[in-house]
Amino acid sequence: MNVLVVGSGGREHALAWKIAQSPLAGRVYCAPGNPGIARVAECVDIGVNDFDALVAFANDKSVDLAVVGPEDPLSKGVVDRFAAEGLKAFGPDAAAAQLEASKSFAKRLMAKYNIPTAEYAEFDTPDAAISYVKEKGAPIVIKADGLAAGKGVTVAHDVDTAVAAIDAAMSARVFGDAGDKVIVEECLVGEEASILAFADGARVVAMVPSQDHKPVNDGDTGPNTGGMGAYSPAPVVDDALLDVIHRTILQPCVDGMAEEGAPYKGVLYAGLMITEAGPRVVEFNCRFGDPETQVVLPRLQSDIVPALVACCDGALDSVQLEWDSGACVTVVMASGGYPGAYEKGKPITGIDDAEGEPGVVVFHAGTGAAGDGLLTNGGRVLGVTASGAGIPAAIDAAYRAVDCIRFEGAHYRTDIGKKALVRLGRTG
Ligand code: AMP
Ligand code: GLY
Repeated sequence: MNVLVVGSGGREHALAWKIAQSPLAGRVYCAPGNPGIARVAECVDIGVNDFDALVAFANDKSVDLAVVGPEDPLSKGVVDRFAAEGLKAFGPDAAAAQLEASKSFAKRLMAKYNIPTAEYAEFDTPDAAISYVKEKGAPIVIKADGLAAGKGVTVAHDVDTAVAAIDAAMSARVFGDAGDKVIVEECLVGEEASILAFADGARVVAMVPSQDHKPVNDGDTGPNTGGMGAYSPAPVVDDALLDVIHRTILQPCVDGMAEEGAPYKGVLYAGLMITEAGPRVVEFNCRFGDPETQVVLPRLQSDIVPALVACCDGALDSVQLEWDSGACVTVVMASGGYPGAYEKGKPITGIDDAEGEPGVVVFHAGTGAAGDGLLTNGGRVLGVTASGAGIPAAIDAAYRAVDCIRFEGAHYRTDIGKKALVRLGRTG
């Protein structure tokens, strides 16, 4: 089978890397890809939202399966477009991708199908939202309804911050149309975990649990980022809890989407808060997580291609997934200044040495090629990933690999996986 991966980040590198290992894979392409992906796939310079060019390329190269990474083309209907041409594409169609693209859609679905989540109210005028916030008090969470590149959520510890977030979204319109509506939500307390699951429109099969690290600095301080690192397994979600999550969240979500006439196929990503009262949905995403994919896929021992095809074909019952019993850790190395303004074009060295460490693979997120060399080309630059027998060994190997890599301004968290160590009874 010829496979086309759509996207250019660390998530897509991990996907292309795993797909390229499949005995079923013929040619593997990536649009637009990056220099790391170019080591495992043929990169083609087509943007993720250029549907005409993607479809023409897929037809030209006899692509049997397209696998879409990012939410933006999914919510704009890239899968619908491929399907209209008789091409198989992995991911939800535009109707199902509303689960991520509209927080209001997701909250209504959860309310209707009794899926546990934070209490909320939605507003389309700032005055009504502000009165509600004043009545409820802080802490409280403000969310722009639409896609805001991961920046639309404010966890406000005082009322002034909440009011400022409402003003920014609805009056200053810093997220454009995505802020036409806001959701005001109860602030949940607990530890977060990410569950990625394969869904085929009716069935849903969870992958191994993982945990992201969103704030930029150690100790979960500083502004939120796209994710500064991840680890799997996440000891906060044991097998019994994963079963509860399947029964009360994943399956009801997939059943509800089918009932609503928008059957969900692709990866269902449940961002959860594990509270004292049980797991609560913080958000649903309609795609693989980044950087969670970089720690989940290395643990998948089975061929990924049959699972991807089964999701498209409504045939997940035919697939059995085997997982490595060890652990995997990704440390993201970011450009100086990220998640604020940062410079690009800094030479990167040491990746080969890093990959000389046992169990290490370096996934490229924001890199560019310059002759034989490599330059930084994004905020998150590399996902330095290590597998090990357990979380402590994987953490040690990942940081040994990070020590090999240099670029001007590089920064990374030094405490990726520490919460797992604490939970496992080690101080790290
Ligand atoms: P999101 O962009 O929806 O992933 O939200 C970003 C982050 O905000 C999440 O990872 C949580 O850390 C936090 N968050 C979102 N909703 C809530 C909530 N209701 N209570 C507490 N924290 C939240
Ligand atoms: N790691 C968070 C996300 O993919 O949305």
